[in-house]
Amino acid sequence: MTGSTPPRKSRGTSAAATGGGGSHDDAWQVDEAAKKATRVWGVSVSVSLWSHFSSFVLLALVLFVVLAVSVTTKNGDADAETQHAPPVPPPAADADATTVLQKALTTVSPSRSSAGDQNECDLFSGRWVYDEAAYPLYKESACRFMSEQSACEKYGRTDLRYQHWRWQPHGCDLPRFDAAKLLGKLRDKRLVFVGDSLNRNQWASMVCLIDTGAPELHKTINSSRSLVTFKIHEYNASVDFYWSPLLVESNSDHPLRHRIDDRIVRAASINKHARHWTDADVLVFNSYLWWQRPAMKVLWGSFDQPAAAEGDEYGVYKVIDSLRAYELAVRTWADWMEFHVDRARTQLFFMTMSPTHLRSDDWEDRRVDGGEAAESDERARRITNNNHKCYGEVEPIAAEGYRGSGTDMAFARAVEEQVQRLGARGVAVRLLNVTQLSEHRKDAHPSVHRRYWDPITAEQRRNPSSYADCIHWCLPGVPDVWNQLLYSHIVS
Ligand SMILES: *[C@@H]1O[C@H](CO)[C@@H](O)[C@H](O)[C@H]1NC(C)=O
Ligand SMILES: *[C@@H]1O[C@H](CO)[C@@H](O)[C@H](O)[C@H]1NC(C)=O
Ligand SMILES: *[C@@H]1O[C@H](CO)[C@@H](O)[C@H](O)[C@H]1NC(C)=O
Repeated sequence: MTGSTPPRKSRGTSAAATGGGGSHDDAWQVDEAAKKATRVWGVSVSVSLWSHFSSFVLLALVLFVVLAVSVTTKNGDADAETQHAPPVPPPAADADATTVLQKALTTVSPSRSSAGDQNECDLFSGRWVYDEAAYPLYKESACRFMSEQSACEKYGRTDLRYQHWRWQPHGCDLPRFDAAKLLGKLRDKRLVFVGDSLNRNQWASMVCLIDTGAPELHKTINSSRSLVTFKIHEYNASVDFYWSPLLVESNSDHPLRHRIDDRIVRAASINKHARHWTDADVLVFNSYLWWQRPAMKVLWGSFDQPAAAEGDEYGVYKVIDSLRAYELAVRTWADWMEFHVDRARTQLFFMTMSPTHLRSDDWEDRRVDGGEAAESDERARRITNNNHKCYGEVEPIAAEGYRGSGTDMAFARAVEEQVQRLGARGVAVRLLNVTQLSEHRKDAHPSVHRRYWDPITAEQRRNPSSYADCIHWCLPGVPDVWNQLLYSHIVS
């Protein structure tokens, strides 16, 4: 048996397969470069860790970082950091919004213990409502730790409607985010986001929600290898991000050098990562996009013994369908949870797939005249080839239940299966179902409005959709809603 399963045809058509990398992989590179820059200058404490500055402004960055290492406005000192970030009152709430808010706080009490509670409002089923008064929850420029990958306004986006959409569940309201209330729950505790850059996107949103919601507190960001720690000192609370894009061990684990096309996972090994977060009080996982290849190499040997396998680079591996590999990995993750997590103490969450908007013909009905078959549709699509991805999109998709071609529900089922298995063994994991609500938001990606490390080429500039990031999300924006969902469970 060679163990080579033919790759499923349906996969490999999304993120990772676009133009041999596309914005998906570019994003990783941006991170690499930024971190490298930070390390080169020997700065371990970096407020602007996620900022991506060219080498010409690196010195300025370092000076900024030195000044900002211990941002504190506790004693009312209006230092350099705060001059553009006046303390933000809770976003303007008119009478209506206040009522909604109070109603939300009193009526929504999602139960942590059971996913099958009949009376529980389904926060994941609803619609987007344009709400100029109450949203966004913070101003982009008010967040002192804003990620340069998500700072769409700063990077030239002028249509700002994407910031004003509120998620309205059918049948109840989403509780409004209250930083003080969350911090009260996180006192002396550790919340860790574990996963890929989408999870980091959510972490960055959480950092901004806390920073702008409690601007007077002393906060720092410190990073060490794969772990980034955001600490809120008065509360001895930390909100961390741990880089582990495939959850299990892989050859993409290096926080800097992880742009590897030929992906290899050790589907049965998670300990190398898990020891960094098993003591956490709240764990939030994700993993999806990095598996979007037709097939993956699954390794049963060790990455640490390259010499033992000269000519057979990594020892014993098999090329298998990536869904199958994902199932193995999620099972490893679940087994770890079962035996190592303190179930009395730790709250566990898994974020469902973050959808991408890499194919504009997904939402642009482009039927061939006369209602031809889907096949000729496909042909027409290939011939016209004018996919603009999410570039230029300024409105959400209205159609209820819309689903893009990049979302493979088989992966969601693999996670659900393990979550159910864990539940049967007394380990409660909450699936935060952000896929459907995010599907509608083709307008909410950075597109070309973010920091790119590689200079944009003249050719790319002529064809902006070629480098548009339609995977990650602008902040403030969609990940804030994901965090409101997380928040509603943590504080309940
Ligand atoms: C997520 O929510 C959507 C919309 O309510 C629903 O169709 C889907 O089944 C849900 N998925 C999970 C895993 O709960
Ligand atoms: C601070 O929080 C950590 C958990 O993140 C805990 O282990 C430690 O005891 C706390 N320190 C104090 C002084 O309470
Ligand atoms: C940041 O991390 C380094 C080592 O990784 C440590 O020496 C330093 O004390 C940390 N700083 C803060 C503010 O936690």
